[in-house]
Amino acid sequence: MGVVVLDFGSQYTQLILRRLRELGAFSVILPGNASWEDIRAKEPHAVVLSGGPASVGAPAAPRPDPRLFSSGLPILGICYGMQLLASEFGGSVREGTRREYGRAMLTRCQGPLFQGLSEPLAVWMSHSDVVAQPPPGWQVIATSEENPIAAIASPDHRLLGVQFHPEVSHTPSGKQLLANFLSLAGVPRDWTPENILTRLLAWVRERVGAERVLVGASGGVDSCTLALLLARAGVRHLAAFVDHGLLRAGEREEVQRALLPLGVNLRVVEARARFLSALQGVVDPEEKRRRIGHTFVEVFQEVAQGEGGIRFLAQGTLYPDVIESAGGHGAAKIKSHHNVGGLPARLGFELLEPFRDLFKDEVRQLAQLLGLPEEIRLRHPFPGPGLAVRILGEVTEERLRVLRQADAIFIHALREAGLYQEIWQAFCVLLPLKAVGVMGDQRHYGYVVALRAVTSSDGMTADWVRLPGEFLDEVARRITRRVPEVGRVVYDVTSKPPATIEWE
Ligand code: XMP
Repeated sequence: MGVVVLDFGSQYTQLILRRLRELGAFSVILPGNASWEDIRAKEPHAVVLSGGPASVGAPAAPRPDPRLFSSGLPILGICYGMQLLASEFGGSVREGTRREYGRAMLTRCQGPLFQGLSEPLAVWMSHSDVVAQPPPGWQVIATSEENPIAAIASPDHRLLGVQFHPEVSHTPSGKQLLANFLSLAGVPRDWTPENILTRLLAWVRERVGAERVLVGASGGVDSCTLALLLARAGVRHLAAFVDHGLLRAGEREEVQRALLPLGVNLRVVEARARFLSALQGVVDPEEKRRRIGHTFVEVFQEVAQGEGGIRFLAQGTLYPDVIESAGGHGAAKIKSHHNVGGLPARLGFELLEPFRDLFKDEVRQLAQLLGLPEEIRLRHPFPGPGLAVRILGEVTEERLRVLRQADAIFIHALREAGLYQEIWQAFCVLLPLKAVGVMGDQRHYGYVVALRAVTSSDGMTADWVRLPGEFLDEVARRITRRVPEVGRVVYDVTSKPPATIEWE
């Protein structure tokens, strides 16, 4: 395998993993207090100790299983991780009198960890405790103005500690430094899309055997890639595209066009009337989500029953969902994700989650290898409850039709202007207000449509896109001209936080 990253509660732990994977080293996160048996079970070539908010001297400070330190595995300690190494091997850690935060310049960089990097080296610091004395026989391998011991190495350079954060983009050479660590530790760099695909195909074939798999192909990149993976693996599968009527214009046809030629056994399940009736009179957003989820469950159950029973349900659960649902170690971010847990138990399926170890961009790379057309692969994310959470208040057939038309005009204009790919998510929201306007010489009451376009890297935070005024003007004109029910178009200029990306 590659690298085990032990998580001591740093906000950057996932970034460490991203960087290592980008460098082609397979890596997984385990809690900082994972047992040696759990670590060993991953067969790592090396271990990284993350940063964290604790002080190593504090009585409740999290520490790794001591057997890790006598295992002989190469270890890189980052920030708190470096302090752990120092205290474990007989050095000393002093509580900092003030916090060093932000950019620092490193000098006196030496040894193979810094190979190929030139001084002064800009790095990102975020710590208050410092290593006051390295362990006996260890070497100080970098210094900063504030911090004479900014990096340390054991005599054989198999144990290394850095006080700064190589994983963040504010440490421009951080990736090279991590690459140096991988070379020093002899970690294979074989985590390529081709290898991931080969592994997944073998895993799916072995797990599924001659059984059958049901997969909900929603039109999103994860579920479409999953359907393609099952088809490529040659296992018996049924990809159900549930048309709940809350989809964007042309979505059903797009998915059919993309998946059918690639050998996916796709079935469109017509359920528009059913979802609409489940949503009748519902205005509360969470109640909408609950009813949509519930109806999905019923539809899946019926599909499986109609087939005389299907053993597996495949889901596109991704690695961040798994980490978040487990509640990151020491971090207060426990969020129960809809993809993890709950659903299958009630359905009576066995769960198949081939992407549990993958990040979204890794799935996108797989999608490319598997031949998923660009219009699906590079599409903006779309929420499971679809347009239902983009109509404030009750969902009706008329409102869906109006919103779908307005949304298609906006998205088309973004593509036309070459802006679509620069944006994380763009869509229209329908406000069921009737704003006054004039049309001809008549007073006219029409819906308000809000345009939303945001940039983001993960959906957790977002900024609104500074779309040119001329462009917005053109979109507003097109929408009010072609969709007469709309009386007014507004642009949402709120970032997240304080707003969310979706309006409901
Ligand atoms: P918010 O609105 O919370 O959205 O800023 C963050 C990201 O999550 C998507 N989103 C959802 N996805 N089911 C989903 O599958 C949902 O109920 C849901 N609500 C929001 C949203 O589109 C954005 O990408």
